[in-house]
Amino acid sequence: MAENPYVNAPRLPTDDEVTLDAVLPGSGPVEIEIGPGRGSFLYERLAASAEVRMIGLEIRRKWAQLVDERLRARGFGGRARVFAEDARDALTRLRPHASVSTFFVHFPDPWWKKRHTKRLVVGDVLLGEMARLLRPGGELFVQTDVEERALQYQEAVARFDAFSPAGTAPGSPLLDANPYGARSNREHRADDDQLPVWRMRWRRVG
Ligand SMILES: C[S@@+](CC[C@H](N)C(=O)[O-])C[C@H]1O[C@@H](n2cnc3c(N)ncnc32)[C@H](O)[C@@H]1O
Repeated sequence: MAENPYVNAPRLPTDDEVTLDAVLPGSGPVEIEIGPGRGSFLYERLAASAEVRMIGLEIRRKWAQLVDERLRARGFGGRARVFAEDARDALTRLRPHASVSTFFVHFPDPWWKKRHTKRLVVGDVLLGEMARLLRPGGELFVQTDVEERALQYQEAVARFDAFSPAGTAPGSPLLDANPYGARSNREHRADDDQLPVWRMRWRRVG
């Protein structure tokens, strides 16, 4: 049988606790993207913001490896990595607490049927870990093209005192536009096709 060409996709160290500075040395703010897929947001964000360091956690080995290689080829290897990890497990091991400046989750759960709700990536485990890892004032940005999912995410985040809505209008997480100067692959497609996108932002409280 042919060997899986992505068997050596980059992984986080297997330690129980993994320090962000150890996997991505440097001094710039650390941003984490959950499920970067083909990587467009990472490339554009790194180009738009010269100081940030970025980590992608992508469950599909193929895309973790290809995007990690392409980051190096584009000169971003010193301040960005993608690891082939299930973000729900990986986040539990990341340290220190209160060290991440922004989490991005773009179009995470494409399954729109009710019975798929239990598979949702954006759930209590992920949200609890993001609350632990975000620095005070740090941001959580989530966007989706499925309205029902947007409502579910809002309900899920509202159960955490750690987050306060930081959208365009006071008290709402909904944003009129993506403020990060970068777009994901799916976002590019949605924008090209003029499909509605629900963009939401919260801030880590105090
Ligand atoms: C619908 S795609 C969106 C890709 C990209 N964010 C975009 O907007 O173009 C969802 C992505 O999340 C990844 N993913 C799903 N579950 C994940 C998990 N538990 N941990 C990390 N990545 C995950 C998928 O492999 C896929 O790349």
